[in-house]
Amino acid sequence: MPRVLVLNGPNLNRLGTREPDVYGNGTLGDLESALTEATDFDVDLRQTNSEAELIGWLHEAIDSRAPVILNPAAFTHYSYALRDAATLVTGAGLILVEVHISNPHAREEFRHNSVISAVATGVIAGFGFDSYLLALELIRRRVQ
Ligand code: DQA
Repeated sequence: MPRVLVLNGPNLNRLGTREPDVYGNGTLGDLESALTEATDFDVDLRQTNSEAELIGWLHEAIDSRAPVILNPAAFTHYSYALRDAATLVTGAGLILVEVHISNPHAREEFRHNSVISAVATGVIAGFGFDSYLLALELIRRRVQ
């Protein structure tokens, strides 16, 4: 089965206890279970608080030709280094779906801009963990 990389940025390891009114009560483990159950894809879910590690994983996606679901978390709003790496992914002809649990546009002003969106294949935001499930469904439709 083809592999999909599900990459999560800073503070998402705290899901479950982090601002549950915004992000819900589910943990990253719950997300992994939901994604694994929903698909035949080999779901490779990872989280890091390190920008460098996240960039390295995008390079790995290119080298292994894996589609990517990316929640860049706060890096969304200011990391040009991550944007450049995402550019390489989509430039290599791979799907990269930017996802967000919350709807950043309905939150503080600094969250309204994403430096990633313009180089992503597309964006899904505001549907809780369903944002990831919808991204997975889109990848399934396009990859097979
Ligand atoms: C987030 C939204 C970002 O603004 C925030 O910094 C996060 C999570 C989301 O999934 O809703 O860490 O990407």
